[in-house]
Amino acid sequence: MTTAGTSPNGALPFPPGFAWGAATAAYQIEGAASTDGRTPSIWDSFSHLPGKISRGDTGDIACDSYHRYREDVALMASLGLNSYRFSVSWPRVQPGGAGAVNQKGLDYYRALLDELASKDIAPAITLYHWDLPQELQDAGGWAVRSTAQRFAEYAAIVAGALGGQAARWITLNEPQVVANNGYRTGVHAPGLRDAEAARAATHHLLLGHGLATGALRSVLPAGAAIGITLDLHPVRVPEAVPPDRVEQARLATDTELNGLFLEPVLHGRYPSRARAVLVPHESLIAPGDLETISQPIDFLGVNYYSPVYLRAGDPDDLRRNEEPARCELPGVVEYRPAGLARTPMGWLVDPDGLYDLLLRLSKDAPGLSLYITENGCAAEDYVSPEGAVNDVERVRFLHQHLEAAARAAKDGARLAGYYVWSLLDNFEWGWGYQKRFGIVFVDYETQRRIPKSSASFYAQVVRANAVPSLPDGAPA
Ligand code: FCB
Repeated sequence: MTTAGTSPNGALPFPPGFAWGAATAAYQIEGAASTDGRTPSIWDSFSHLPGKISRGDTGDIACDSYHRYREDVALMASLGLNSYRFSVSWPRVQPGGAGAVNQKGLDYYRALLDELASKDIAPAITLYHWDLPQELQDAGGWAVRSTAQRFAEYAAIVAGALGGQAARWITLNEPQVVANNGYRTGVHAPGLRDAEAARAATHHLLLGHGLATGALRSVLPAGAAIGITLDLHPVRVPEAVPPDRVEQARLATDTELNGLFLEPVLHGRYPSRARAVLVPHESLIAPGDLETISQPIDFLGVNYYSPVYLRAGDPDDLRRNEEPARCELPGVVEYRPAGLARTPMGWLVDPDGLYDLLLRLSKDAPGLSLYITENGCAAEDYVSPEGAVNDVERVRFLHQHLEAAARAAKDGARLAGYYVWSLLDNFEWGWGYQKRFGIVFVDYETQRRIPKSSASFYAQVVRANAVPSLPDGAPA
């Protein structure tokens, strides 16, 4: 629903009943990698291979949230959050990814849910945030169809055990990143560089989403909210009348980054425009698969970090701030527009991209609730001699993106919630502990948690259910 304009003090309000949360993922925070019957996931194997992760970091200990979840829930309560997005570690609750459950693993999540309930924090559970049981990888991983079936079985187990207590269920986190980084470029687990496997993984991830959605519906009480989280990247061309090839590149890039996953889920088809090398081969698509994939969901989870900008250019003779275009069309480059900053991840900071994305989704899928399930930035955080972490860059980033989100809601986007990535600094995949995304600083030597300035800022927004107006001329 939309709201009236700004309040008298200039603050931009969010819709009533808005979900305010923080997000994490099991492998990134839990640690306790071999505790209480957990077996290795592909991220355990991958992170232990020499040279795969910056400085050889692993998630063996991470933030030790497996043992410190009470403290972490208390932190969220102190910030006034009303929701927590976390993921369940598949090899913790079903070691090996098939067959018997591990009761101790389920008990951990039940205790976490009880703790959240005691503080009135509604859980949003992600079933797959990238930690596939290693045994399923040994059998082919997402490149084989049986993994989708195993995933639905696991979803039913988790929902059966924890279902009464969860507010929101997210099947998969960012299947685009799984297929691309895990199977095509190999910078993520399982580290494959195999275009055919990546195409197959695309289909089997989506099929897994559909089968799991069906399984969840049959196990969960009526009214349970089920959705999927996609990483979405607005593709932007500032020129009013771009050359044809730039417009073509815009459509191609949007199709390949966004449409390849949005269209099957929302409309039951793979986009006709995408390059054959990316679209699942038709021999993989059994009758009924696209209906399974596109069965109704209750919400779409949107992870937004950065857009892609395109202009005419020569990929063989790049100018400053240009890069080759990922769509590989001739005469076009990606670039950083003057005035847009990059985070330490190299990602463009562009809150207007979030605004455009939310309005576009509200047109593409009218009636579907949207949650921003991740948004945030890495920053070069440090503890001052006084013991504080004054992360001004992150405060500015959150301020600008929350303002864009509130504006989108005012202008008609069906935005129902926002989860900052992340509650805690944590194991940032290939970057290990070198990139900090938390609103709470983690001293990995002592596991001490120190809320940063961004945590106070976020708590203020949550309390007001509104974002204060941006200072005039705030730098991008
Ligand atoms: C997203 C992931 C999340 C985190 C952020 C920075 O792609 O879903 O786990 O790593 O990026």
